[in-house]
Amino acid sequence: MRVNHCGEVCAQALYQGQAFVARDAPTRTLLVHAAQEERDHLAWCDRRVRDLGGQTSITAPLFYAGSFALGVVSGLLGDKWSMGFLVETERQVEAHLDDHLGRLDPGDDASRTIVETMRADEVRHGQSALERGAAELPSPIKRMMRGFSKVMTETTYRI
Ligand SMILES: [Fe+2]
Ligand SMILES: [Fe+2]
Repeated sequence: MRVNHCGEVCAQALYQGQAFVARDAPTRTLLVHAAQEERDHLAWCDRRVRDLGGQTSITAPLFYAGSFALGVVSGLLGDKWSMGFLVETERQVEAHLDDHLGRLDPGDDASRTIVETMRADEVRHGQSALERGAAELPSPIKRMMRGFSKVMTETTYRI
């Protein structure tokens, strides 16, 4: 749940960065709305980590800043790339959440409910970006994004 927490920090920061420079109003609205839902996810994960007696990662502010900057850069490339970036982000998040659901303690219903609800929201975010004309990102960019999230998941798992 610590990793999920930091993932939501990143998602929120990305979409805020993208919304900050979005060209047209419907795209900005979509990004602001998605960022709000990521903030809800963040709050659920935060509470769950604490209920389980854990602590959220100390690296979260760093990842927030990095992700916001990444969001601005992808937003500046134009709305169809920005939407494509969101689609790919949500795809990777969805894969991560599926993996987490498979490894979750079968008795941990509270965490499962949170992860399943987030997953449904992430699928909806991706679909709405596709409807706004998201472009398919080139494979090297997708690989870079997977690299970034690997660094994020492995760091936040530890510190
Ligand atoms: Fe989320
Ligand atoms: Fe999302």
